[in-house]
Amino acid sequence: MGVIQGEGFRAKASQTDLAVTFRDLILLPGWTEVEPSQVELSTQATLHHSINIPFISSPMDTVTESDMAIALARLGGLGVLHRNCTAEEEVEMARKVKRAESLIIKDVITISSAETVRYATELMQKHNISGLPVVEGETLVGIVTGRDVRFADPGLLVKDVMTKKVVTAPEDTNIEGAKELLHKHRVEKLPLTDKQGRLKGLITIKDMLLRGRFPNAARDENGQLLLGAAVSPFDLKRAKMLDEIVDILVIDVSHFHNANVFNSTKKLLEEVEADVIVGSIGTYKAAEDALTKLEGIAGFRVGIGSGSICTTMESTKAGSPTVYATAQVADAVQTYGSKVPIISDGGIRGPGDAAVALSLGASAVMIGNLFARCREAPGTLIAIGGRYYKQYRGMGSPSAMAKRLATDRYGAPSKGLPEGVEGWVPYKGEVNVVIQELTAGLQASMGYAGARKVPELWEKARLAAISQSGSEEARPHDILLPSESPERV
Ligand code: XMP
Repeated sequence: MGVIQGEGFRAKASQTDLAVTFRDLILLPGWTEVEPSQVELSTQATLHHSINIPFISSPMDTVTESDMAIALARLGGLGVLHRNCTAEEEVEMARKVKRAESLIIKDVITISSAETVRYATELMQKHNISGLPVVEGETLVGIVTGRDVRFADPGLLVKDVMTKKVVTAPEDTNIEGAKELLHKHRVEKLPLTDKQGRLKGLITIKDMLLRGRFPNAARDENGQLLLGAAVSPFDLKRAKMLDEIVDILVIDVSHFHNANVFNSTKKLLEEVEADVIVGSIGTYKAAEDALTKLEGIAGFRVGIGSGSICTTMESTKAGSPTVYATAQVADAVQTYGSKVPIISDGGIRGPGDAAVALSLGASAVMIGNLFARCREAPGTLIAIGGRYYKQYRGMGSPSAMAKRLATDRYGAPSKGLPEGVEGWVPYKGEVNVVIQELTAGLQASMGYAGARKVPELWEKARLAAISQSGSEEARPHDILLPSESPERV
């Protein structure tokens, strides 16, 4: 008992796949007619949503809340909100992102004329807005702005301080028409009303200026920032609440290739309208089963156990490094003639890793660690030895699991077993700094490969395995760097 015997097992051991990882591969320079500045990075995040740079943030509670999602979408990428919170909190985060800017605001925050000035001030502060259309029932009766309430007695009613003569426009007004009206009347907000005077939308100068400031932003058809949100396959109620707001739902489990998960996802897919990304998966078979047994999936999240905070492989030996996983899933997608985009997730340390993942058939990469370093990430900032760091933790780390709200990601298959760690990553400042480095580096990699666009990289990129000594040579060597101790040279 307990001894591995027989041809079958010996054969199994000797025929094992080599599950390579980022550090094992390099991108071979190819014939190129492409300069890095000519490389175009737009790509599919899901079947129906494209983004302008192939970078997506992880749904982790030290990586993606509203601020990160807003910043990333403005830069052309995508944020996926974490779910280690109540459904109501996740919905509130989603609303905040969607309200951050839009061509025409449909979900307008209004106030009744019978409310107090105190409440109007609170509402404007809470939502970080400068004015509120005033309604009686659904009818627009005025507008109240920061200027109207600033020195007013907080006990007064809104109807006593509001501007009653409001410049409005019909609900089908286009942006050019709105611009003219805003300019002509020198106002900042233009409420849209129907023939009965009911409020139907709002166009603001602020949104128009933001559009100009972030021309590369990833937006939905209403001009709002594109957004994803993580959900459990077992929480249909939350998925349906978020489905009303977000563009993309991400089924957030560590092992998607699981009978219960498949059954619940099947139901979820029938009930929601958003594009659904499923994962995490790491094998050809998992992708094949998903493609053949589930209808309507719009993306794959690929890679198990490669994340910088993961201990899954260490403690369970189960996993599929992101590079290997991407190649496996890309093969299945190709074999089945599917167009479902692949998001490579875990272990990305820089643009070169992203280039390798994309070369293997991914459309985008998902990143936790590099984004956790940024101001927009929710983790706490601390100083250690004169340097700044931000908190970063795995969603299967003991402290994240103690919150107990996303425990079904790691809880069910491995009761009581932490699958992640908690620590500190160096502070990098604003996320646009990280995005600039990733973008410039990836454009350079694609230039070396001769690929102008991501799908061209799938065709043209050639990879090679690198030896241990090759990879040592690939870093600076035989030189004393300012950050190192003299013994190293
Ligand atoms: P990076 O390398 O960017 O990876 O830090 C982020 C990805 O790691 C996954 N993740 C975990 N994996 N235990 C795991 O095994 C965990 O506690 C954990 N938390 C996050 C997840 O796929 C994320 O996108």
